[in-house]
Amino acid sequence: MIRLFSTFASGLTPVIAEFLQKDISLRLVNQWDGFIEYCAESSQLDKIKHLQYLQNTFVIIDSVRGDINLMLNSLSQQNNKLKNFSFDRQLMPNKKRTFRVVVSEENKLIGINNNTMLQIEKNISNITRLTVDRKNPGCQFWVLHRSEGHTFFAIRITELKSDDKGRARGELRPQLAYVLSRMSEPTENELFIDPFCGSGSIPLARAKMTKKGLIIASDNDGQLISMLKEKVKKLDLKKKFVVRQSDALELHNYYHACIHKVVSDPPWGCFEEISDIFDFYDALFNELLEVLLPNGIMILLIGTEVFPEVLEKYKESCSLLGKYDILVSGKKASIYKIKKL
Ligand SMILES: C[S@@+](CC[C@H](N)C(=O)[O-])C[C@H]1O[C@@H](n2cnc3c(N)ncnc32)[C@H](O)[C@@H]1O
Repeated sequence: MIRLFSTFASGLTPVIAEFLQKDISLRLVNQWDGFIEYCAESSQLDKIKHLQYLQNTFVIIDSVRGDINLMLNSLSQQNNKLKNFSFDRQLMPNKKRTFRVVVSEENKLIGINNNTMLQIEKNISNITRLTVDRKNPGCQFWVLHRSEGHTFFAIRITELKSDDKGRARGELRPQLAYVLSRMSEPTENELFIDPFCGSGSIPLARAKMTKKGLIIASDNDGQLISMLKEKVKKLDLKKKFVVRQSDALELHNYYHACIHKVVSDPPWGCFEEISDIFDFYDALFNELLEVLLPNGIMILLIGTEVFPEVLEKYKESCSLLGKYDILVSGKKASIYKIKKL
């Protein structure tokens, strides 16, 4: 068994803990905001590394309950955990045999005394036979202190995800699109819709989750729809993916109660012309309840504060299964998981 921790978007700890427990056989140790510590067999490392909803994953070499200096002092002298740690081939970089040490306190990278750093680097180098490269290393050792009072010394086993590149304005990060789609509990043969699909991040993430069923992606922006049609063609998803230009406030054109799941990121009223945001969400929710099957699930990412009022209005027709407050591009938003009664 090895001890690990993974980081992910703030606000989603219960959701990510549930996914992790489904995907990996593990024992949870600590769960804090945006952070889960757990034990798992090393044979599962490769699978863990590729879990889309995790930002970064680290294998823990040592941890203490106490401040960061306790760990830094111990690492600059003789740290027995480091000395006795088995640096399995899976953990070591195979091309660039270099490393650097990163120090993080309460989610901020900090600098430390250079002599202490040199001593820590020397100790790590003696044990791992890696050499120091502070600019472009093959792997990273982290000393990370959390506000809950724990300090970890760990090796990072994931690459930094640079998913900001090439994203259109308003397009969700792939990680968040994955989480939203999966929160709807996808099963085979469902009819799924994202009526505000934009660039298609949510339905494209959903398409990878099941083989059968139909995904409908619609938006009222013709240009976005043409671009998404191209993507769907290139990805060879045409058999299970319908892309169409339509108004989300006219979902009643679909049959009554025919849709199993809705996952969507409606406009937040920041860029779009919406004269009355309450009326817009009221009309939208009415449409969604009309087309959703009883027990059907909607996952909505919403950045407006009027939504709880809308939910209150429809409380006889639906039940709120969960609400998760997150930040999207620095703006406050909430994910609502709602079941139609
Ligand atoms: C927040 S963005 C969705 C972004 C999308 N999740 C993505 O990753 O690209 C909201 C989308 O709603 C669309 N929209 C606004 N009003 C609409 C309406 N009445 N019917 C359908 N789409 C609408 C906009 O064109 C925009 O693409």
